[in-house]
Amino acid sequence: MNQAQYATQGDIAVITMDNPPVNGLGHALRTGIVEGVRRAQYDPAIKAIVLTGAGKAFSGGADIREFNTPKALAEPNLLTVIRTLEQCAKPVVAAIHSVAMGGGLELAMGCHFRVAAPGAQIALPEVKLGIIPGAGGTQRLPRLVPLEMAVNMIVSGNPVKSEKFKGTRLFDEIVEGDLLAGAVAFARKVVAEGRGLPKVRDLAIEHDDAEAFLQFARNTAKTVAKNFPAPARCIDAIAAALGPSFDAGLARERAIFLEMVQTPESRALRHAFFGERAASKIPDVPEDTPTRPIASAAVVGAGTMGGGIAMNFANAGIPVKVLEAKQEALDKGLATIRANYESTAKKGRMSAEDVEKRMALITPTLRYEDIAQADIVIEAVFEDMAVKESVFRRLDQVMKPGAILATNTSTLDVNRIAAFTGRPQDVIGTHFFSPANVMKLLEIVRGEKTAKDVLATTMQLSKKLRKTGVLSGVCDGFIGNRMIEQYLRQALYMLEEGATPQQIDRAIEKFGFAMGPFRMSDLAGNDVGWYIRKRRYVEHPDLKYPRIADRLCEQGRFGQKTGAGWYRYLPGKREALPDPAVDELIAAYRKESGVAPRKLSDDEIVHRLVFALVNEGARILEEGIALRASDIDMIYLTGYGFPPWRGGPMLYADMVGLYNVVNRMADFAAGSHGDAAFWQPAPLLAKLAAEGKGFNG
Ligand code: 3HC
Ligand code: NAI
Repeated sequence: MNQAQYATQGDIAVITMDNPPVNGLGHALRTGIVEGVRRAQYDPAIKAIVLTGAGKAFSGGADIREFNTPKALAEPNLLTVIRTLEQCAKPVVAAIHSVAMGGGLELAMGCHFRVAAPGAQIALPEVKLGIIPGAGGTQRLPRLVPLEMAVNMIVSGNPVKSEKFKGTRLFDEIVEGDLLAGAVAFARKVVAEGRGLPKVRDLAIEHDDAEAFLQFARNTAKTVAKNFPAPARCIDAIAAALGPSFDAGLARERAIFLEMVQTPESRALRHAFFGERAASKIPDVPEDTPTRPIASAAVVGAGTMGGGIAMNFANAGIPVKVLEAKQEALDKGLATIRANYESTAKKGRMSAEDVEKRMALITPTLRYEDIAQADIVIEAVFEDMAVKESVFRRLDQVMKPGAILATNTSTLDVNRIAAFTGRPQDVIGTHFFSPANVMKLLEIVRGEKTAKDVLATTMQLSKKLRKTGVLSGVCDGFIGNRMIEQYLRQALYMLEEGATPQQIDRAIEKFGFAMGPFRMSDLAGNDVGWYIRKRRYVEHPDLKYPRIADRLCEQGRFGQKTGAGWYRYLPGKREALPDPAVDELIAAYRKESGVAPRKLSDDEIVHRLVFALVNEGARILEEGIALRASDIDMIYLTGYGFPPWRGGPMLYADMVGLYNVVNRMADFAAGSHGDAAFWQPAPLLAKLAAEGKGFNG
């Protein structure tokens, strides 16, 4: 099908890009545009051309899926298309609505004139994909808008509404009402007035001291985005626009673009872009599955998690009732919520009026009857099956038919919880991460009997709550915590072998993790891991488990909340300070277990931690607990502080090469303290490595 529809309105040709969902400029569309322009050129009845987009965008830019494939560069490439428009002997008017981004905006800037509907989102977002605009964006935008504005847009990638460009040369007109009619009328006017074929390339960049400004911007970009090369490279390309030759600037931009497309950072960011969108798709739950309306919610338990979950609903404008067992706990929970909002207000990030508006959406109660009409209830009581049982039996009695019954359990079996009710099809896991009002991740746990519309509704709800929803099957720890347990096991092994908590944290933080395992455990509470380990000792007595953390817990060093854990903390402060008492504890443990400490390199530390995640991730993928490798990566990027420029553990493994991963694991197994069982590659990992494939194809 021709993706560029060609039509005429009297003496005006209208070319409509039609490549749903966002008119990505793939090879077929590019070909269609060029053909349309030629047709209009050779038709003597045509005086001018209007270029616009069907559906929900003018154009979302280059087709990202074509990157690094021959199609991306196949002629006509985007530069050729833009040159065709620019050199067309008849005026070309871009008619922009909804979205003009990246290559879409570059295309428009190649036209002789541009008109836009108000409210259209205008951006050069390439930097968010780790690249730079590659089809003239860095050369033409500074000629159309003030240099500062151009730099800001290109380096941030953020959209600006079309009406904000008033007073610049980007748009010749903002068309209120029917855009196409306005654009056609504008094209006729241009012809009638003989306004010629103005080209953006002929305009000059106006700035008193552009070099100095760009140097300042470059320094800032390097400091702010130190792990991402693209922002500073955007400025290098803009600087090339100041040279005497437009074409030399264009060539420089193209060279940088081609270099950036190959960077691992760009691959990681593109992976996350598609990963985020893929995560909301569940193969056996079609996109048109009807959803249940969620106009009201309830949360049971107003502790750490319940309070944060309630805030999510209030933030989304959904009234929420909070139920507690005791008045005292209820008062405390509500007071914490208020204190959270007030602290945000104090930082100037919300108004006092908003605090009251949000609080007004949260209603405390002690009576189940008060929550019976809620469309969804999320249970966040103690992590104890008996308590969960009593809550779910009660919910089953009172909740209206069709209400979704969700549990925030982090370790318990969602199927067992569902079986406490007579409506297991309505039960689902919604595993929020702490602090629940801040963290973006929501693991959505599918029980054996969870209904499809419950899944679709919960996935949709995750978007309303501004979370990244990722589906997990039922297993101990679900995806994220099941993997982190293996990572923590390795961290403890390495402590026993000779490393310090500081060295391990420092190494993995240098790799890019937001927080190393020991600082993280101190934050989450060392008692949580202790509780899980004690369970493991009983369930899997044969499993080798480092016992060093138990010693710490036996001393009551639970982390920040007790003022001491793997580090010590000054009262009211969060800074992790090294503690000689911990060094002594570790030294005593090694002596007792006859371990001669050795020096571990940062490289060994990082790869033992990350490959522990990868191996467990492979098992999770093979068991079908995760639907796709990118889901695992989204969990680690949004919930566990994995460095975004590395794309998540599974993509990182792909980039290292699975063959190399497996070899390295064999080295770890053979090391002096090697745990061969731990480093046995998951069958899927071994298979893919042998086939020379990756988790992501
Ligand atoms: N290429 C290919 N597919 C794209 C795309 C693109 N540029 N932009 C969006 N899509 C796809 C998405 O993957 C998604 O596909 P799916 O339905 O199969 O999951 C679908 O379009 C809808 O996307 P969203 O869910 O994001 O829809 P929204 O309506 O919320 O947002 C949007 C639309 C604002 C266009 C948003 O998708 C977006 O920001 N896209 C990225 C735009 C971008 O980065 N463009 C620059 C591309 S690079 C470039 O142009 C290089 C050039 O300089 C040479
Ligand atoms: P918490 O101890 O802070 O809060 C639990 C609250 O539930 C308390 O306020 C308690 O009074 C209330 N409660 C207990 N029994 C109740 C009952 N029968 N009816 C009504 N209220 C009752 O616990 P937290 O940390 O908020 O955990 C709650 C759930 O969330 C647990 O299942 C936990 O595993 C899970 N979770 C916890 C995370 C965390 O980081 N704390 C992260 C993700 C999940």
